[in-house]
Amino acid sequence: MKIAIMASEGAPYAKSGGLGDVMEALPAALSRIEGNEVVLLLPYYKKIKENHSYQVEQVMHFTVQLGWRQQYAGLMRLRNRSDGVTVYFIDNDYYFGGRPGPIYGDCDDGERFAFFSKACLEALSYLAFIPDVIQCNDWQTALVPVYLKAQYYYLFPRTRTMFTIHNVEYQGWAQGYFFDDVLALPWEYRGCLDMHGQVNVMKGAIETADMVTTVSETYARELMYPYYAHGLDGVLSNAAWKLCGITNGIDINTFNPETDRNLPTHYNADTFVEGKSKCKAALQAEVGLSIQPDTPLLVMVTRLAGHKGLDLLCYIARRLLLEDDCQILILGTGEPHYESFFRELAAEFPDRVAAKITFNLGLAARVYAGGDIYMMPSRSEPCGLSQMNAMRYGTVPVVHATGGLRDTVPPADENGENGLGFTFQSYNGDDFLGAMKRCLWLYHHNREGFRALQHRGMSQDFSWEKPAARYMELFWKMCNQ
Ligand code: GLC
Repeated sequence: MKIAIMASEGAPYAKSGGLGDVMEALPAALSRIEGNEVVLLLPYYKKIKENHSYQVEQVMHFTVQLGWRQQYAGLMRLRNRSDGVTVYFIDNDYYFGGRPGPIYGDCDDGERFAFFSKACLEALSYLAFIPDVIQCNDWQTALVPVYLKAQYYYLFPRTRTMFTIHNVEYQGWAQGYFFDDVLALPWEYRGCLDMHGQVNVMKGAIETADMVTTVSETYARELMYPYYAHGLDGVLSNAAWKLCGITNGIDINTFNPETDRNLPTHYNADTFVEGKSKCKAALQAEVGLSIQPDTPLLVMVTRLAGHKGLDLLCYIARRLLLEDDCQILILGTGEPHYESFFRELAAEFPDRVAAKITFNLGLAARVYAGGDIYMMPSRSEPCGLSQMNAMRYGTVPVVHATGGLRDTVPPADENGENGLGFTFQSYNGDDFLGAMKRCLWLYHHNREGFRALQHRGMSQDFSWEKPAARYMELFWKMCNQ
């Protein structure tokens, strides 16, 4: 099958969050399936352009018409990718290559990614790569199915489109005039992009794509409710017949405690007791905590954003520290009030709390390995990857039972049996504290039970093989319709 995947980020070239990880591993997993030909299209950001370890050649260039604008697009091909995925970058200095800042956040993001979406379709047609399926991701590529239906149908009459929602919170809103000025779509498409007189490109994708997926089964159901859908619950309920959840995997080669070069020592499911205790001592030393082998180390690697449940952690942190023998380590950057909260807490409890307000992938791996308990109380979580990373490294997750957290962390009982971690159902600090206490009780009073839980987490198959097979099932279904 010929598959074209389009996204605004893909590791290792450009990544701001989980989407970047998925766009590294999913294309690779799909290309391992026999008979598949997979191309991945990404913007040619400045950071990629300046990285000389990527061998990039220009294949061609063409013009993209965006309303009254005629914009240059260079099609660049990456020569040194070895897993069978063909990676193309769309080059344009005005939109991508000349901007030093982060991937998103410019006031013309709408126009930038409209350009990218249209340029991807143009590129496929110039390459004469007519895919059976286009899989596109989040609002940045939400215009792909819309353009395909409205303007490129005659070039790709049999191509089916799947739109995948990684986070419904970011929908790609624009003023009403964006429709004529930038998109210049036929008037009959105004309705499908319209929301309260403005333009919402995610809504357009949900209405025009042949299938809509999201990154866990529970999140697919949650999306029908106003609490989760950020205004799109009605639109998503109408699309329920073509909406499906596929829980992400993780890259089990990158996240592997047996080979991870970031770790001071390696271990697997049989040797983790010793391996993790060495990693823990090294981590405690690295971040300035007192070296206590039997004090549970509670960790979190996260963007310090409200929806990650940090308000709950702030609410319970002092009680945890005062009522229990434990240490807390937070790694991540984000909203300034959370950054200062954890900095202050670390100043108040210097031996017991460490706040590393930075983005550091090497340290993240050492935190997954050296921690005992991984906290993830997200208010909502489409899938979440770090709880799976944590389990793979033998760290027991305590999570809010929502979205992908609910699907990947079945709850254990008080003896640590029958599940993979500890969960709480309703989003409030006392319930989170209760789940933390159950986990801490197991650690302090039944270490064998705690270890059995760690072992079970490490033995799970979180690879991309199963989700990739599920994507294939849906691709075939679309093609046979
Ligand atoms: C988004 C979601 C996260 C998910 C990731 C990859 O970042 O917030 O839950 O794991 O996308 O799909």
